[in-house]
Amino acid sequence: MDSHTEMGLNTRLAHFGEDVKLEGAIAPPIFQTSLFVFDTFDQFESGIVGNPEGPPYHYSRIGNPTVDLAERKIADLEGTEECKLIGTGMGAITVAIMSCVESGAHVVAVDTCYGPTRTLLSDYLKRFGVKVTFVSGLSADEVIEAITPETTLIYLESPSSIIFRLQDIEAITKVARERGITTAIDNTYCTPVFSNPVQFGVDIVIHSGTKFFGGHSDLTAGAVCTTKARMDRLAKEEVNLLGSILAPFPAWLLMRGLRTLGIRMKRHQETGNIVASWMNEQSQVERVFHVGLPNFPQRELFEKQMRGSTSLFSFEPKTQDKERIMRFVEGLELFQLGVSWGGYESLVVPIYGKPDDWLEPRWVIRLFCGLEEPEDLISDLRQSLAASGL
Ligand SMILES: Cc1ncc(COP(=O)(O)O)c(C=O)c1O
Repeated sequence: MDSHTEMGLNTRLAHFGEDVKLEGAIAPPIFQTSLFVFDTFDQFESGIVGNPEGPPYHYSRIGNPTVDLAERKIADLEGTEECKLIGTGMGAITVAIMSCVESGAHVVAVDTCYGPTRTLLSDYLKRFGVKVTFVSGLSADEVIEAITPETTLIYLESPSSIIFRLQDIEAITKVARERGITTAIDNTYCTPVFSNPVQFGVDIVIHSGTKFFGGHSDLTAGAVCTTKARMDRLAKEEVNLLGSILAPFPAWLLMRGLRTLGIRMKRHQETGNIVASWMNEQSQVERVFHVGLPNFPQRELFEKQMRGSTSLFSFEPKTQDKERIMRFVEGLELFQLGVSWGGYESLVVPIYGKPDDWLEPRWVIRLFCGLEEPEDLISDLRQSLAASGL
């Protein structure tokens, strides 16, 4: 099965790229090797230079059949020509950003992007003379006004982290294209199940595969998806030289996770909407940040560019008393205290901070609902709300 337009999402998730069965094995083998050797010097020479007629693999930092299979599956889902798998989501973000900047370049980025991405842009890249302007991203005009003659990259994350703000992707990429500026987006929240940013003109789509793609909290991975022309450059430089590729075994696990991505996302959407709506009605809750709620302030944009929402959301408690917040978090039994999300298990994390446009930092509690029964999750939240006096 070769075309990404041919069949429905769940069919492609189950079968795309998996037609070749070694010895009839339904699960593809793991090519757990760092090296591929040759019989002749001719083969060796054409393999090393990547001659399309020559042997396809010579060294797993450059390419590996198991990793390739997972990459083709993800590119098919995103509707891009190519995908490269990296060891973590941050690795993918780093190679994507590095491929778009040089000394003196300027980046416009969403201020509520994933924390380490913000640190990479604001602190680490400063060493190399790269400047950044952070914007809320709430209006396309604000993003466009931040562009300078030196801008080479607009970095988006929609919905963004912690308080889940959307950016109008199409309006932003239209101007970026006219001005020759590359756009990149972190699409980890949506996955290709709920959004394909290339449909709205984005050049580079990035994922943390650690989250929904893997889905079982047992691997770290990252993905960069883009055109062949851009990937040829990016793979030769940032991927091969920085060397942060994904190993065969986690790539195989990632593929296993991907086969059930569609049904897991449907379930996360249902549970997220049930639990977030319940939280929205509790007297202890000031406001819920969830893109799936009917009263989500950017509802129109949500409907335009997303096909669904997940079970990752947050809420601001009325009380800002740290002790009561900690009692609530520690009193939860099904929601475990942990930073990641996207797996089968429910998680909670309290965060103290603010986007650039809030006057004061506030406590916000992020919840991720796993695959447990929504009624059990609500019971757990109810008992801890009561016991903690939140
Ligand atoms: C939105 C988002 N992007 C990227 C990352 C980084 O991914 P990884 O932890 O795989 O490096 C995370 C991790 O929490 C995330 O939440």
